[in-house]
Amino acid sequence: MTFEAISKLIKERKTTYANDFSDKKISKETIEAIVENALWAPTHMHTQPWRFVVLEGSHQQELGEFMASYYREMYTEKQFSKERYEATKSYSKNATLLAVIFQPNKKAKLPEWEEIAAISCGVQNIWLSCTALYIGAYWDTSIATIAYGKRIELMENEQFLGIFFMGYPKVGVKTGIRKRKSLSKKLSFSHKAITKDVVPRCLGSNG
Ligand SMILES: Cc1cc2nc3c(=O)[nH]c(=O)nc-3n(C[C@H](O)[C@H](O)[C@H](O)COP(=O)(O)O)c2cc1C
Repeated sequence: MTFEAISKLIKERKTTYANDFSDKKISKETIEAIVENALWAPTHMHTQPWRFVVLEGSHQQELGEFMASYYREMYTEKQFSKERYEATKSYSKNATLLAVIFQPNKKAKLPEWEEIAAISCGVQNIWLSCTALYIGAYWDTSIATIAYGKRIELMENEQFLGIFFMGYPKVGVKTGIRKRKSLSKKLSFSHKAITKDVVPRCLGSNG
């Protein structure tokens, strides 16, 4: 893999919403190969604090209906029209729904942010894998989707972190404008440490 190839893949990764998914199914083998790549994400102390569940069967229909009712309650009819309500009911019909579940590792005693950061690395691996396979995808952590998580069986201490939507895009789907702030705003080079009041922060149990 060349630097140019990985840079291209990273920049081609994008959000594709479920309205733009065709009815072409993602095979079990492909789902497994994609999720296998998540397992290779880095984790502090090798905690691997995740598990993923493919929500099948009635979930596609139920999730859409749940979202529609949720937003019906939350918004006025002007904000969330009858048409949108009806369309939302079948929003996820073509989506492969991957529940992202956080399994904190009790023994490692890591700060939670490190564990969530690790899961996010795993999800990025999944997202990039989808891009390489021409599968559209996005991570949905919306208020309605998080509420839907109550319908998913979790073990003690586990936390539901939303649903990763996947599907083959319909032909001719257009990408909206995708922008990023310039590198000069986000990267700087520091030559000197601040010496006063240096307190070690964010140290894990093995430093
Ligand atoms: C942790 C996380 C949660 C996200 N949750 C949502 C969401 O709930 N709804 C949504 O429309 N997009 C969600 N996104 C997708 C972002 O909106 C999207 O990545 C961003 O607009 C940049 O667009 P791009 O993915 O095409 O580069 C989420 C992304 C991340 C990383």
